[in-house]
Amino acid sequence: MKFLSQVSAALALFGAASAIPAEEPPLLQARAALQQVTGFGANPSNTKMYIYVPDKLAESPAIIVAIHYCTGTAQQYYSGSPYARLADTKGFIVIYPESPYSGTCWDVSSKAALTHNGTGDSNSIANMVYYTLDKYGGDPTKVFVTGSSSGAMMTNVMAATYPELFAAGIAYSGVPAGCFVSSSGGTDAWNNSCATGQSRTTAAAWGQVVLDMYPGYEGERPKMQIYHGSADTTLAAPNYNETIKQWCGVFGYDDTAPESAAANTPQSGYTTYTYGDHLVGIYANGVGHTVPIRGDDDMKFFGL
Ligand SMILES: *[C@@H]1O[C@H](CO)[C@@H](O)[C@H](O)[C@H]1NC(C)=O
Ligand SMILES: *[C@@H]1O[C@H](CO)[C@@H](O)[C@H](O)[C@H]1NC(C)=O
Ligand SMILES: *[C@@H]1O[C@H](CO)[C@@H](O)[C@H](O)[C@H]1NC(C)=O
Repeated sequence: MKFLSQVSAALALFGAASAIPAEEPPLLQARAALQQVTGFGANPSNTKMYIYVPDKLAESPAIIVAIHYCTGTAQQYYSGSPYARLADTKGFIVIYPESPYSGTCWDVSSKAALTHNGTGDSNSIANMVYYTLDKYGGDPTKVFVTGSSSGAMMTNVMAATYPELFAAGIAYSGVPAGCFVSSSGGTDAWNNSCATGQSRTTAAAWGQVVLDMYPGYEGERPKMQIYHGSADTTLAAPNYNETIKQWCGVFGYDDTAPESAAANTPQSGYTTYTYGDHLVGIYANGVGHTVPIRGDDDMKFFGL
């Protein structure tokens, strides 16, 4: 009896709920996990595919392709970016591709990668999207791409090589599509003149680089949002202007005359430039590499 009363005293002390088994659900629900997908279709560059499918999947879900930075992994971008958390509330699917190379930067330098159906990483990533649309009955009008650094370079490359696949892209601190091209055709090559901001040309010339990645394509193209920091010492700040010029060249906008420039938007020190309904640039004064991801703003740009 004495023992039992001690037990009840202890139960009172620690709270009854902890001692009552079963009926009540645990406070922390286990949520869906990141999963690797093999056999998603042709994978010419051996890129790995990881996917996050939330427990509460929307009917005809949207798909976001979220692409990691150099030295990164799918797992790191899954845990370090807000997209899986947002997927839990909004019901979209996130595809996290993983680069197959030892430094785990993306191949944004070879002709294969810089060509529609060209058998590079871009081709493998596009096939991940086709697989996901098919398997989960995804909404083909709501496929988006985003990434940071090397993943931002790949975002521009995906938008250029697969314009029919994506409704919008958001690049955090990248370079124009084709800026990292390797003159010797190298795969996954570093391009110093681009990284240091020396690769500069006109809007028309940059735009042509995009058009040449999918010759003959005349359909819709994704709307783009370009973030870059003025204090970026990895992919120097002129890459902001060059990327803006590139998409201005594609869409026929005047890169010297944005429709609007909003200071201290979306936060102090950032300026938001709108060039037309398909292009927004956000230049972050004093920010280095990379501009932090703005998940809620991304949802607005994607219309999710
Ligand atoms: C690219 O490949 C896809 C999938 O195999 C195919 O459906 C499409 O027609 C190809 N594009 C062109 C322009 O050949
Ligand atoms: C680096 O890229 C530029 C275009 O941005 C290109 O003209 C140049 O040939 C590339 N450099 C190398 C070493 O491949
Ligand atoms: C970008 O272009 C604008 C207008 O031509 C110029 O004022 C600005 O200094 C440029 N920024 C960079 C980082 O090159």
